[in-house]
Amino acid sequence: MQAIPTIEQNEAAVRFDAVTKRFDDVVALNAVSLDVQTGEFLTLLGPSGCGKTTLLKLAAGFLGPDAGAISINGRRVNELPTYQRGIGMMFQNYALFPHMSVADNVAYGLKTRRVPKPERQQRVAEVLALVKLTGMERRMPRQLSGGQQQRVALARALVINPTVLLLDEPFSALDKSLRTSMQVELREIQRKLGLTTIFVTHDQSEALSLSDRVAVMSEGRIRQLGSPVDVYRAPTDQFVATFVGDNNKLRGRLLSVGDSDAVIELGSAQIKVPSERLAKLEKSAPVDLFVRPEQFCVVSANEPSAMTGHVVAQIYQGGHVDLQIECPGASRDRLLVRSAGDQAVVRWPMGATVGVSIQPGGCAAFPAE
Ligand SMILES: Nc1ncnc2c1ncn2[C@@H]1O[C@H](COP(=O)(O)OP(=O)(O)O)[C@@H](O)[C@H]1O
Ligand SMILES: [Mg+2]
Repeated sequence: MQAIPTIEQNEAAVRFDAVTKRFDDVVALNAVSLDVQTGEFLTLLGPSGCGKTTLLKLAAGFLGPDAGAISINGRRVNELPTYQRGIGMMFQNYALFPHMSVADNVAYGLKTRRVPKPERQQRVAEVLALVKLTGMERRMPRQLSGGQQQRVALARALVINPTVLLLDEPFSALDKSLRTSMQVELREIQRKLGLTTIFVTHDQSEALSLSDRVAVMSEGRIRQLGSPVDVYRAPTDQFVATFVGDNNKLRGRLLSVGDSDAVIELGSAQIKVPSERLAKLEKSAPVDLFVRPEQFCVVSANEPSAMTGHVVAQIYQGGHVDLQIECPGASRDRLLVRSAGDQAVVRWPMGATVGVSIQPGGCAAFPAE
């Protein structure tokens, strides 16, 4: 008999199926469903308190769900203890054992799993090579830099050959340059091992730069799940538009709506946007238009379809300049306008009256809130 193809044949590495978790009257997770594919680097992104750590703890088995099911490689794990789940973990406070050497810290998980000594030593050597700490075996944690300690923590998570790697804001305590190099290194190791990884962060740029897919969370729910480009370019709601990346929110009016595009009127300008989220609106209804800082162009003040404003702040960023522009006719808030290179510093000085136009394509619009 021929097998009927089912979704199970393409089983997710980790599946959350309508998972709910409450703490007294707080609903930390509200019927969350999420499939993490084998070998995927998936990031949970959201503000503090949205339920990211709770979701990781449920995957790890530190907490049990109030409703719903969690499975790993097709096997339900709701009732399975942590040590049988094949989970490697690295949390925010990745405290190493201070009285143990690097090698002993890394070997710890193998010892508790009663792996024989020769195999233990070989695994520790392999994994220390992977995180570039060969030769540091006998050092104590206090003799290591922050980045090296971080790598020991990562080695400790990897040494058990986990099925899934869970990382909860592992780099949030590092300074920017160290964080960037650890991110790159983690991603290289993760790719090399093909290791399914769930990474938690509240930092949108970290999420965008690292991930295969990002799950944007708020208040115990996933608001959008997609590639970094998807969540940046095509946010599904105002929360995602505001939380992921810098954005400007302008009030416009719906001029016309077609099958795929709608036209928004903003002062004397007309902007074409995808119509998907505006289909139910009446003509001339108010809409919130989201424009990324890099989608604005600064032009001369008398350009007909531009908004008129004046420069109130200039923030030099090296590779680009951020201008804050007051445009009372278009927005109560200052517009954030990003100009590549550094020409803007002299071209659009403080106090200058300028025109601001919007490049076609790439804006998102929603019914006004
Ligand atoms: N052990 C707990 N007891 C009570 N409330 C908790 C507990 N853990 C988490 N919460 C609450 O659940 C919500 C989600 O928390 P958490 O998953 O830690 O968020 P995040 O990691 O996104 O910052 C928050 O409102 C938090 O206060
Ligand atoms: Mg957390």
